[in-house]
Amino acid sequence: MKKGLSVQRRKWTSTVSACEKRLYEDSFPVDGGNFEDAGRVSGKIKTILKEMGIEKDVVRMAAVIAYESEINIVSYARQGMIRLHVLPGHVAIEVVDEGPGISDIRLAMQQGWSTATDKIRQMGFGAGMGLNNIRNFSDIFHMSSDVGIGTRLKMIIHTHQEQDR
Ligand SMILES: Nc1ncnc2c1ncn2[C@@H]1O[C@H](COP(=O)(O)OP(=O)(O)OP(=O)(O)O)[C@@H](O)[C@H]1O
Ligand SMILES: [Mg+2]
Repeated sequence: MKKGLSVQRRKWTSTVSACEKRLYEDSFPVDGGNFEDAGRVSGKIKTILKEMGIEKDVVRMAAVIAYESEINIVSYARQGMIRLHVLPGHVAIEVVDEGPGISDIRLAMQQGWSTATDKIRQMGFGAGMGLNNIRNFSDIFHMSSDVGIGTRLKMIIHTHQEQDR
């Protein structure tokens, strides 16, 4: 484990796992290969955050993170789960899938690098930008993967709503 990554993972533990007050928490399953429903879970997450009165910028960032994560599960994994946590001062999104995993995370994170098949490209995906967007829209980002088992992403966005803190 590289130092930077373990720091990010510790931040997740201290911010999300250790937080006792949860304003919202739920998990949403995502089916691999189901392009028809792709975007449904991220749309739902966006609606939930909006209805909770979360600030616009944070809703937009969380929606992009959830959408790119959902499309990656649909495109590459057998099945997965997106978990949304709303905590005082933070929105956190955890993504776990069962699938081929990623052998070289550093390469996968590079802009433009993609193993998308023709089918995935026909659906309009495969520019090799998704993971980059997820990292850029996150204040805290941690990714790990086991080849042949699956991939796990943990993202935190800070909110600025003082009344939550
Ligand atoms: N959940 C996953 N399981 C297995 N491999 C993945 C997963 N997510 C991403 N990858 C691998 O990492 C590569 C880069 O992913 P990324 O989301 O950045 O781009 P993309 O999905 O190829 O294209 P885009 O997201 O721009 O439509 C993918 O092409 C794929 O090889
Ligand atoms: Mg992608």
